[in-house]
This record gives sequence, C-alpha cells and structure tokens, in this order.
Amino acid sequence: MQDLNETTITDAVRAQMSRTADPRLCQIMDAAVRHLHNFAREVTLTPAEWLEGIKFLTAVGHASTPIRQEFILLSDVLGLSALINALHDNEAAELGTQTSLLGPFFREAAPEISLGGSIIANPCVPLVTMYGRVTDTTGRGIPGATVEIWQTDEHGLYDLQKDGGAQMDMRGRVRCDAAGNYHFRTVRPLGYSIPLDGPVGKLVQAQERHGFRPSHIHFLIAAPNHRELVTALYFGDDAHVESDTVFGVSASLIVCARDDDPNTPIPDLAAVQYDFRLGREASQGTGRVGADPAATVA
Ligand code: BEZ
Ligand code: FE
Repeated sequence: MQDLNETTITDAVRAQMSRTADPRLCQIMDAAVRHLHNFAREVTLTPAEWLEGIKFLTAVGHASTPIRQEFILLSDVLGLSALINALHDNEAAELGTQTSLLGPFFREAAPEISLGGSIIANPCVPLVTMYGRVTDTTGRGIPGATVEIWQTDEHGLYDLQKDGGAQMDMRGRVRCDAAGNYHFRTVRPLGYSIPLDGPVGKLVQAQERHGFRPSHIHFLIAAPNHRELVTALYFGDDAHVESDTVFGVSASLIVCARDDDPNTPIPDLAAVQYDFRLGREASQGTGRVGADPAATVA
C-alpha cells in the first residue's frame, strides 16, 4: 500500500507517468513535475495561494483571443520567451546576429518598398535613414535578401493600435541590392508600455515594474539557404534600455542615430547603421515564436 507524504509524492507521480510512449513528452513532464513540486515545497504553497494561482491562470486564458495571446505575454514578462530564443540560437549551425522577441505586432504581407523608400505613410517628424548590409557569417553580402521591418511611430503606437489596424503603416519589406545593401527611411520609434489592461499587467504592476519596452525596430530577415532571423535593434539612449520588461535587449543589438555619419546613403537625414549576419539554414524550425496568436486558440 502506497503511503504518500510531501516528499514521496513526487516519485509516485513520476512513476505513473513513466510509461508515456513519446520519449520527449515523458522527459518534459518528468522535469515539469519535479520542478513544480520543488517550487511548492520551497515556498510552502498554501491552499489559498494555490487557488490564487489557478484563478490567475484562468484569467490569463480568458484574456486570450485570436488576436491577443495573454499566455505569450506572461511568458514574455517572466523572461521565458527570451530564454527560449537564446536556446534556439544555440542550436544554430552558424552564429548569426542575435535574435530578439517577435512580439505581438508582426503582420504578414507588409507592403513592398523600394530601396531608400519610406515605411511611414504620413511623416510629421524628421525621418531617419536606416542602412547597412545583410551578410553571411563570413561577411559576404547576400544579394536579394529580404528585410521586413515593423515598429511604433513617434508616439509609441503600432499601426494595429490605431483604427483597429485598418491601415498598414510603419512596416514594410525591402530587398537588398546585389551586394547585400539595404536602406530605408523611417521615424525614430518611441518606446511603449506592453498591454497592462489584463491579468499579466496586474501582475507586472504588483511587482512594481514599469511595464515599458525601450525604443526599438523589429526585423525579420530571410534569404534562400539561410536561417531566418527574427530580431530587433534598440536605441541605446532610451531610459528603459537596461530594464526592458520582456528582456529582449542584448548589447549586440544596440544602435544610435547619428547626424554626422559620413557613409549614409541619404546625407540630409540622421542615420542608423547596422549589418545583419545570417547563418546557414538549419532544420530546427522557425524562430517566429508566437507569430500567429490565432493558431494557439483551439
Ligand atoms: C514587442 O516588441 O512588440 C512586444 C514584445 C513582447 C510583448 C509586447 C510587445
Ligand atoms: Fe515591439
């Protein structure tokens, strides 16, 4: 007869689950139960606190819709999404530019713009030029690589946050020239708060965190036979660059806008320069983690 207590229960659960036919599911659930039980023991989780946790996760589920994924936001603010990205980077056959979070504001079918074109429909502040190269890991330019861009405007809003996203704006796709060079015009984006009107926002506020992401521009870069790159560049002078709420910032992804860049292709505008490196294609699947919230809702 089993005689379970707060210590032996962990191995009893593991034993029951050990017949799982799928070896990876078996490994994941075994580790999950060990860590979950150790967590409950470590904090001596009370029944009331356990119920609070259940209520919180229920609210996270209810806040999730085909266009809003509150569980991914939870993963983001706990640093899990950034950790999963880092683990995915470690699987790469070659080390390219570091990845960063895709975030919830990516949209398929961004408008094609010509080299040097603007991704802003109605600019009302001075534009900046963003330019550089897309290369392989030896520094050789990749002709025709596609550079997809999305960002907030100078007020910190994505197009999806205006008029229900009726107009595609502050996003576009440029194709590199034969030497792998790209450039486009844009506005300097403003940092913004992650959505704080749901259960994850309540948690972030209870933790006395500011909830902001520093000013950044998102990129999705692709070329045949190369690993798709999902990343973002962060403006180093933003007040929140050291305390991003979703832990997407890395030192190698910091940029600045310069008024005196001698190499800029558009001399009248401030310029931001960055070269992206793509590794060779590997078979570990996409880096577009959570690109489609609708796909996560049954
Ligand atoms: C973003 O950068 O768009 C983003 C990422 C994670 C949570 C919220 C926004
Ligand atoms: Fe963003």
